[in-house]
Amino acid sequence: MTPADTNIDPAPLLAAARAAARHAHAPYSRFSVGAAVLLTDGQVVTGANFENASYGLSLCAETVAIAHLSGLGRLRDVVAVAVVGGTQIDGVARGADPIRPCGRCRQVLNEAAGMGHRDIAVFCSGIEGGAIERHRLSDLLPHAFGPADLGL
Ligand code: THU
Repeated sequence: MTPADTNIDPAPLLAAARAAARHAHAPYSRFSVGAAVLLTDGQVVTGANFENASYGLSLCAETVAIAHLSGLGRLRDVVAVAVVGGTQIDGVARGADPIRPCGRCRQVLNEAAGMGHRDIAVFCSGIEGGAIERHRLSDLLPHAFGPADLGL
């Protein structure tokens, strides 16, 4: 497993995540989330949360971004992900407190990390700025369930 590179400049990735959050479809929670994934060749792929009137079917921003990577055949190439989110007030997402990926998204990211034999850097910040947290996915999801548990 290649260690996560938490020294990557998070600023451009967070900017891409903030731009992606503008595409959130979140009329039910009114909480917009954007995710931006950095690949080995520098390409950035984004996602925004996509809610459903049948609430439980809603998709998180990170999962949307990872599904996009699947379509591009780039699941093995994830280096880092940035996540931002905030509550919509008068149609604009507000807040400077960082959000971290939910448990399901950590598990989804972990699958891609395993495919690339690379730990992933996870940058978290507020949708309007504020402090930047630098995590390793392996710290956010210790003792993860993975293919080894299935004998693979
Ligand atoms: N959400 C994400 O997109 N990513 C996360 O990691 C946490 C939560 C979304 C799901 C839902 O659309 C909204 O935020 C409120 O939970």
